Amino acid sequence: MDAGTAYERPEPSYRAELTEVGRGTPCGEFLRRYWHPVGLAADAGDTPKTVRVLGEDLILFRDKQGRPGLLYPRCCHRGTTLYYGRVEERGIRCCYHGWLFDAEGHCLDQPCEPEGGRQRDKIRQPWYPVQERYGLIFAYMGPPGKKPVLPRYDILEDLGPGEFVDADDTSIGSGGPVLVPCNWLQHWENVMDPFHVPILHGAFSGTQFVAQMGIMPKVEFAATPRGVLSVQDRTLPDGRVHHRVTEVIFPTVRAVPNPRVASYQRCEQVGWVLPIDDDHFRIYVAGRTTEKGTLGKGRSKYDGKWWWELSEAEHQRLPGDYEAQTGQGRITFHSEEHLASSDKGVAMLRRSLKRQIDAVKEGRDPMGVSFDPANDLVKTEAGNFLVEASKAASD
Ligand code: FES
Ligand SMILES: [Fe+2]
Repeated sequence: MDAGTAYERPEPSYRAELTEVGRGTPCGEFLRRYWHPVGLAADAGDTPKTVRVLGEDLILFRDKQGRPGLLYPRCCHRGTTLYYGRVEERGIRCCYHGWLFDAEGHCLDQPCEPEGGRQRDKIRQPWYPVQERYGLIFAYMGPPGKKPVLPRYDILEDLGPGEFVDADDTSIGSGGPVLVPCNWLQHWENVMDPFHVPILHGAFSGTQFVAQMGIMPKVEFAATPRGVLSVQDRTLPDGRVHHRVTEVIFPTVRAVPNPRVASYQRCEQVGWVLPIDDDHFRIYVAGRTTEKGTLGKGRSKYDGKWWWELSEAEHQRLPGDYEAQTGQGRITFHSEEHLASSDKGVAMLRRSLKRQIDAVKEGRDPMGVSFDPANDLVKTEAGNFLVEASKAASD
């Protein structure tokens, strides 16, 4: 009799507690204990912009005094959307009956009511706190009493001569559209999967980064006080060792040094995986640079073509991160996986993520949140380093 046919396979399922991001879900509540980038600084302007974050639709704008605001879109009067609102000096004015709300949802004017609304102080348009840093707008969407300080990252604080911090949104890894139609964890856990690099990026589709990244590395994983890191050692043809450290930092941050290894130095950029909803995410990056507009533009070419120039058959022949990660489905079926020894980093990350989610469920604070403005710096170890042969040999 035939064994293992697809007819006999069990119904698949996924781990909702690690992946779903909505309000009231275990992972959604965990994510809501941190700040998330919801746009580039330039996205907040005098034309209201819809943003979708953690399954919530919101309106981002910047009042004429320069303050960014992030409001629930349905006007608290009779529910039309503030997408059609007008940005003014003090806030955004609803198109329907002209109620005016500031960046924190206070109602400042009700022009159809006597005296501009005697009761206007009694209502408030639902809003979220925002802060600008590193060219990004960060929002805190969790319980008000649990709002942590907005973290700084050493990568973006210790600038060299001529360096400044630039921000951008970007495609994942080797290329693709900015909006990625699959669950955020499929990308975040990929950061702890260094073994796919020599295969997917180094062999299967040719060289997507640089030749040395195609060398199968010796890999170790370690828990850190902020997440998980991976150390990858590649012995180069001249005997020296490319010592590469990549990190994930709670809740969705990645510190991945340039896979094109333009130079040996500590990691130059921080990336945030922003869950848009359960089956979409996007990435914002901020990095040290000396040239405006170059960040996030390091894309791979496939047989001399850009990702978006490929035919469907070429995508099949030359897949990259986008194909591999969206190819796992909208939310990958964890029940159908067979994790092997090379998935140790993924397993560590998931276990650690589960512990943080449980901590929030049990009323504790998850890893990496700080309420002390003097303790807002995240120190990292990520980078590409070159170890001389003599030192490498003695390791
Ligand atoms: S619906 Fe917004 S002011 Fe009436
Ligand atoms: Fe990759």
